[in-house]
Amino acid sequence: MAILKIARMGHPVLRGKAADIADPGAPEIRRLIGDMMETLADAGGAGLAAPQVHQPLRVVIFHIPPEGPPEGPNEEPEEGADEGAEEAQGTTRPPPEPPPGPPQILINPVIEPIAEEMEIGWEGCLSVPGLRGLVPRFTAIRYRGLDGEGAAVERTASGFHARVVQHECDHLDGILYPMRMPDLSLLGFEEELDRYRLAIEDEEPAGEDEAPQTGPETGLETGKIAAKGG
Ligand code: NI
Repeated sequence: MAILKIARMGHPVLRGKAADIADPGAPEIRRLIGDMMETLADAGGAGLAAPQVHQPLRVVIFHIPPEGPPEGPNEEPEEGADEGAEEAQGTTRPPPEPPPGPPQILINPVIEPIAEEMEIGWEGCLSVPGLRGLVPRFTAIRYRGLDGEGAAVERTASGFHARVVQHECDHLDGILYPMRMPDLSLLGFEEELDRYRLAIEDEEPAGEDEAPQTGPETGLETGKIAAKGG
């Protein structure tokens, strides 16, 4: 296996539509997925899509965040806090350690929203290094595809799990997360966002009724905006 070079925003491979994989068991596909695993482990982050390693094929890998409430005495569960809690674990807090187990593999994925609501949350991307942005995503989705053995996968996902799958699958259609942002004033360098996170909180658009909580308990204040995303 090998650690592959990651394409950055501006490379044409990130703008194209990736092709379906005809034979998930083909040796070159297994090798690609193995290399993607190694590359993700090396780079850190929640997930990786094949176009990010210069292969315009429809396969993504991603970590599913652990279930359950976040640790910490200040984070009582409350109504509507589920996504926010996963958010805090997944996108706005430095992961204390890598999620257990290898990343999930999803070949030829198809996503369908199963909730109308969207919420905004912080995302980063290995192809957009150093930046973070607030991105609206569907709060709940169903996704289908094939696993690394070619077996059918069908799952529902919410919160950060849903977010990371939407982010990674967007890569297969040439979409990077800034292209999903209605307000590019909420795109910034992670170092600056960390330094001025309270100011950003104050400026958060008032009209976003689905905005996740970003107050001291759940959001930016809890730590660095750390998810490297995929
Ligand atoms: Ni990405």
